[in-house]
Amino acid sequence: MAAKPDSVQLDVRDGIAVITIDNPPVNALSRHVRQGLCDKMREAAGDPAVTAVVLACAGRTFIAGADITEFGKPLQPPGFLEMIDVLDDSPKPVVAAIHGTALGGGLETALACHFRVAAPSARFGLPEVKLGLCPGAGGTQRLPRVVGPEKALEMIVVGNPIGAPEALAHGLADEIVEGDLTEGAVAFVRRVVAEGRPLVRIRDRDDKVAPARGDSALFDAFRKKRARRMRGFEAPEACIRTVEAAVELPFDEGMDREQEIFGQLMGGVQARAQQYFFFSEREAAKIPDIPRGTATLDVKRAVVVGGGAMGGGISMCFANAGIPVSMVEMSREALDRGLATIRRNYENTAARGGITAGQVEERLGLISGTLDLEAAREADVVVEAVYEELEVKQETFRRLDALAPGHAVLATNTSALDVNAIAAVTARPESVIGTHFFSPANIMRLVEVVRGEKSANETVATAMALSRRLGKVPVLVGVCHGFVGNRMLFARQREANRLILEGAPAHEVDAVLYEFGLPMGPFAMADLAGLDLGWNAETSTGSTIRERLCEAGRRGQKTGAGYYDYEPGSRVPKPSPVVDGIIRKFAEERQLRRRDDIGRDEIFERLVYPMINEGAKILDEGIALRASDIDVVWVYGYGWPVYRGGPMFHADEVGIERIVARMKELEAAHGEEWRPAALLERVAGEGARIGAR
Ligand code: 3HC
Repeated sequence: MAAKPDSVQLDVRDGIAVITIDNPPVNALSRHVRQGLCDKMREAAGDPAVTAVVLACAGRTFIAGADITEFGKPLQPPGFLEMIDVLDDSPKPVVAAIHGTALGGGLETALACHFRVAAPSARFGLPEVKLGLCPGAGGTQRLPRVVGPEKALEMIVVGNPIGAPEALAHGLADEIVEGDLTEGAVAFVRRVVAEGRPLVRIRDRDDKVAPARGDSALFDAFRKKRARRMRGFEAPEACIRTVEAAVELPFDEGMDREQEIFGQLMGGVQARAQQYFFFSEREAAKIPDIPRGTATLDVKRAVVVGGGAMGGGISMCFANAGIPVSMVEMSREALDRGLATIRRNYENTAARGGITAGQVEERLGLISGTLDLEAAREADVVVEAVYEELEVKQETFRRLDALAPGHAVLATNTSALDVNAIAAVTARPESVIGTHFFSPANIMRLVEVVRGEKSANETVATAMALSRRLGKVPVLVGVCHGFVGNRMLFARQREANRLILEGAPAHEVDAVLYEFGLPMGPFAMADLAGLDLGWNAETSTGSTIRERLCEAGRRGQKTGAGYYDYEPGSRVPKPSPVVDGIIRKFAEERQLRRRDDIGRDEIFERLVYPMINEGAKILDEGIALRASDIDVVWVYGYGWPVYRGGPMFHADEVGIERIVARMKELEAAHGEEWRPAALLERVAGEGARIGAR
């Protein structure tokens, strides 16, 4: 963020100093803001005409935290704690006037004030954990002293913000101000002065933490509850330890503990990866040749063609965003089945407390089912989600072309097919685009927006904006088989299949990726999805292990057997001696040499390096705009652990030169599929990072 010397202003209004921070876009605590705040606070303290201070922010939000662009370099003084101490030591009452989001260092700044007043829509949070950090400006020690350790754990370890009413209920906000916030804050602090209210610093409070002292049960229970979500992450456990310190230690010792833990996390690769990912996600929204502000279509009505798993999930996305949607199916039976699944999904969410019973009905009320594609006449956007076969999709688009209004965007939900070939059957290829939703579509955040060679800028901009409106993270990709995500997945799958034929047990292949942090490996994933997707008993030739498993009735979890065995009613995969036998026989028939010395490192390299190599080709071909976009695809679409940044970030961590050298060894052993991509060779030659592309 560029330095802005006048980013902190002081204005004395009838004895009250109003300090205003103005550091767009989000009033981050850049160095000049920290300096300005210290200076203005000292000026206010030294001015005998000032009786109290209001700290407010201009623009769209209160301070949204530290300036993340300053991380990774030595912090220039004044540091956060120096600034916090200036507020904390103020002999005059200080009230923070909060609108927008008080996040991270922003909330910590507010916690160093004596009071906090808020606009009704304000939000309060300590999201540092999402950047691989713990709060590092006293938040871990002050927040528990205000809201108690239980609520503090939730806010610090999970990192989600709370709204103003909840903040008020927990004593984090002292008052909610309707109308002009700064005026309300001035009036509030005048009352404080007039009533001679004692100025209690949060650091001196003990009432909320004392009851939990010496009692580890609260923390044990919290760890247990969050164990699955914390798997592999360093920051959440570190955050728990800071809250334990707030309960067990005097304030200053707790602060030392916080600083020690903050420093350790900040120096680690996970924090670097998560901060990289924060910016990567925001970069993905930017399309160099489409200017910000390009006109987009105001989507008021949607049509989804197909009521299967994908069509149903996509229809739910529209309803969740408040957009009326018609779901079109071919038969009454299929339509009823699709609508019933949607109802069941909503009811399950309501049963878990995710939405209210009223919201279930409201959302269902936005989804209408029909057997008539004529519904497309009313649509601003049509998402086709029919069977994944080019001819079937082309036929649907021919009909849509005849029905949909001229302004409509026509999207095909495909995971691998040629969007140009689909667009070509219409008279308006400029209005056609791909939207690859991930399954389950109502839950997964990623959408690959596939730009056809004739897609108009407005069509692309509309698909990106609409995806965001549906709560998704869109990444723009080009046309090729499998786009970004699946093309890399295919490369990984090819090697996974070879590994089991060469002698690596399927469960070991899966374990390597699970331990790396992915939710599951390729074989557990195949069992979950069903091995018979696209398989046909009549045409099956037994030419792959997958086909042989299907022929043996092992079609995945749904049949209680696939690559793994499953106990009745259980989803826990168990290594299967039967599958072992099938694989051995298959390998023998093909006279494949089997080894029993395939170690975990080799498994990892053979699964992940082909992905990186394919990623490099994707980048070189312009299918992805940047390496970081590939990482966004893998984190949001396939559960690549965000604390490892993404496959391309990981490639740079390993070192491109090392990867290229290893691939050449593998090329010698296994053939030319291992030849390093030209871009990898170039980057290795320059000793550069692929992440910079
Ligand atoms: N530092 C630097 N830049 C930041 C920033 C920050 N803390 N927060 C946001 N930005 C930038 C974004 O990169 C983006 O830049 P761009 O326009 O060039 O892409 C711009 O500000 C606007 O951000 P968003 O697109 O995210 O805007 P939204 O309105 O959607 O969201 C927000 C606003 C909720 C504030 C969101 O940006 C956000 O969550 N920011 C991060 C908050 C955070 O994590 N704070 C904690 C920081 S760590 C810390 O405080 C350490 C302390 O404990 C010592």
